[in-house]
Amino acid sequence: MSENIICVCNEITEKTIEDAIRNGGLTTVEEVEEATTAGSVCGGCIPDIEEMLEKINKEK
Ligand code: FES
Repeated sequence: MSENIICVCNEITEKTIEDAIRNGGLTTVEEVEEATTAGSVCGGCIPDIEEMLEKINKEK
């Protein structure tokens, strides 16, 4: 995972979101929003967050 910005509105990186998902055991976009603020402004990054949730949670 990388330092790519996923959420442009709040400048949240892919790594920040991944860490939040892994460390917090997050499973929904709402939880990621609460943990990182990603997705809470325009919502344009929500499909990317959903994709990350799916990918990371599938590994378990
Ligand atoms: S890009 Fe994430 S809320 Fe706008």
